[in-house]
Amino acid sequence: MAIQRTFSIIKPDATKRNLTGKIIAKFEEAGLRVVAQKRIRLTLAQAQEFYGVHKDRPFFDELCEFMISEPIVVQVLEGEDAIAKNREVMGATNPAEAADGTIRKEFALSIGENSVHGSDAPETAAEEIAYFFSGLEIVG
Ligand code: CMP
Repeated sequence: MAIQRTFSIIKPDATKRNLTGKIIAKFEEAGLRVVAQKRIRLTLAQAQEFYGVHKDRPFFDELCEFMISEPIVVQVLEGEDAIAKNREVMGATNPAEAADGTIRKEFALSIGENSVHGSDAPETAAEEIAYFFSGLEIVG
């Protein structure tokens, strides 16, 4: 597998509880490198656009309100097989189903307030990275 880049968000439930460093440590311990990062506050329009693929799901409004409730940390992670590795380190969407040692098992509060987001495929990784970062902001 080649070196890849993936997009990651540390979500409001985690920034609120001051867990940013503990979560980044999990990525680094797994061999992922933070090559771009910023702490931002999403607008409602940005949250709705970013999660547009879920706009017909019953949890869409709740998800967007949650994502604007506190700051988030957006980042680009780089490493061998980074997209799959990031998803492995995050654990299942629902923390009740997440494996031991994963971020969501250790830190997530619920399926909605699940501490982290990660891209699910190379195409979405490229789109999500480009949504938040210019090429100049990514330093490998
Ligand atoms: P994420 O990986 O950011 O992608 C979509 C998000 O929708 C997901 O993580 C969850 O936070 C959220 N989500 C998925 N299913 C539910 C649900 N049943 N109720 C509330 N939020 C959900």
